[in-house]
Amino acid sequence: MKHIGTLLGATALCAASSLSAAELEVTHWWTSGGEAAAVAEFAKAFNATGNKWVDGAIAGGGGTARPIMISRITGGDPMAATQFNHGRQAEELVEAGLMRDLTDIANAEGWADIVHPSSLLDSCTLDGHIYCVPVNIHSWQWLWLSNKAFADAGVAVPTSWDEFVAAAPALEAKGIIPLAMGQQSWQSSGAFNVLMVSLAGADLFLKVYGDHDADVAAGAEVARVFAAADDARKMAANSSVQDWNQATNLVITGKAGGQIMGDWAQGEFQVAGQVAGTDYTCLPGLGVNEIISTGGDAFYFPVLADEEQTAAQGELASLMLKPEVQVNFNLKKGSLPVRGDIDLSAANDCMKKGLEILAAGNVIPDPNQLMSPDSLGQINDLFVEFFNDASITAADAQARFAEIVGNAD
Ligand code: BGC
Repeated sequence: MKHIGTLLGATALCAASSLSAAELEVTHWWTSGGEAAAVAEFAKAFNATGNKWVDGAIAGGGGTARPIMISRITGGDPMAATQFNHGRQAEELVEAGLMRDLTDIANAEGWADIVHPSSLLDSCTLDGHIYCVPVNIHSWQWLWLSNKAFADAGVAVPTSWDEFVAAAPALEAKGIIPLAMGQQSWQSSGAFNVLMVSLAGADLFLKVYGDHDADVAAGAEVARVFAAADDARKMAANSSVQDWNQATNLVITGKAGGQIMGDWAQGEFQVAGQVAGTDYTCLPGLGVNEIISTGGDAFYFPVLADEEQTAAQGELASLMLKPEVQVNFNLKKGSLPVRGDIDLSAANDCMKKGLEILAAGNVIPDPNQLMSPDSLGQINDLFVEFFNDASITAADAQARFAEIVGNAD
């Protein structure tokens, strides 16, 4: 409560002075070409209501953006709306009373009937109250391949992880980096988790991330995943880019063979005018096990003092779930919509595969829904080290991984 008092005092000073409409600053980490095109759809729809979207993009990815967002909110300088991933990233802010309770709007608009899968709304819910709007489903389990790179290397475009590993020497012989990977801390752990689900299956993934089972994490099946991660780090040894979209660009330009990355990569291929199937190939579940995680993005609305801004927050929250906004935003973002009752006939082949896998129910939660941000941060750090330091053996890294998993909350 103390937090709220401080917050109300601070924001009262900068209450919006407009008469009929409000300006809302919206923070997010969508700064790549595809991401910027997608977020512009939200801004356009919100501006059409007569309110004004003040874009608060924070560069550097979620790992950089989230601490900034959190410290602004806890420090009494909240934005009007902000992105977080589905899951536990905003848990402490909600518990501290800093986030607006959206339950009335959610009930009035029947979000519980609209949002699918229901785990997305569960991730917004604390003690029966709803604190966020899920806007998309993003899955991690994709291998994006450059058709040009494989043509240049004289080998067929792989259809599975093993074929991709086998093609690496042919790519290298032509000066092509087999696996593009950037240095942002979440990229290597993300790739490892994709290897885990794809090669060892959903049950094992859930034992590790859901049950925090250290014995399973230390066991033979996860050792096999670490061996694959060792292949991956060798294939990525010459990939010296930083941001995930720079790595995607290596694939787009045929300088790299492939990238393990979430389906947000699709937005980049789209902005570059590339066509799925012709210019690039996508393999869900690395061509081994077609399963997708139902992570993604949700918007939270910090408690504000100003009435007009508060009213406009409600308008933005409800607009983000409107069918046409869901279609326009998700087609650009490369994500799947959170409602199943809308027309996605314009989706490309990769997105259609994602929709089929979702419809078949081959889904797992995202680690952000299963582990605290602290524990996931430790896992990120471990994989940054593992991918950058060849002297760390797979066995050493696995032992450290199992310890983090056993202590995770
Ligand atoms: C978000 C995506 C975003 C990606 C890369 C993920 O955490 O869910 O929306 O495109 O980060 O910035």
